[in-house]
Amino acid sequence: MKNFTSELSVGAYLKAGANKTVRTLSQLKDLYSNREEVNRILENEDPVLYEVFEMPPSPKETDLLVNITVLHAGVVGEEPFMTKGHFHQDPDTGEVVIGLKGSGILLLQNRKGEIQEFPVEEGKVSYAAGGWGHRVINTGKEDLHFLAISGANMIHDYETAVKLNFKSLPVENKERISANE
Ligand code: PA5
Ligand code: MN
Repeated sequence: MKNFTSELSVGAYLKAGANKTVRTLSQLKDLYSNREEVNRILENEDPVLYEVFEMPPSPKETDLLVNITVLHAGVVGEEPFMTKGHFHQDPDTGEVVIGLKGSGILLLQNRKGEIQEFPVEEGKVSYAAGGWGHRVINTGKEDLHFLAISGANMIHDYETAVKLNFKSLPVENKERISANE
């Protein structure tokens, strides 16, 4: 096990040895309902939607994952960039999300299909309890940076998230976005 200290920034995380995972539109095109728009964008480029900076870099089961995600600002049709979203399983543990910069929402869904949403912005902490799948959506106009902390002993379950499909964006947020424009 390796102890560390770092400023809460991407640059500091990289200096501390963080692993970086990049997610592009071509990897996540099924998240977006406007297929024509997905194809139109991909004809010209494959934009990076988000990057995850993972600390500690080689976690053991007894560690915590203390990751910074940078979710870029942008839309695919009417839907803002969002993370893939997943459940935790074996064990089905909780997760803390702390906004660092920008603004967005933490969209939660449990296995019964119930939905909740919480803010992701500087100065706010939101908590996804065990049993709640989680996706972050950037509803703002700048990149959204957030810290997510969970137990490294869980397995990511992306399949259940795909089956339940969250709601890609709650209606009230669609209104909020057009009101901002
Ligand atoms: O631990 C988390 O839940 C986050 O660090 C996410 O993994 C990150 O935001 C990327 O989301 P996803 O794993 O759904 O692609
Ligand atoms: Mn998680």
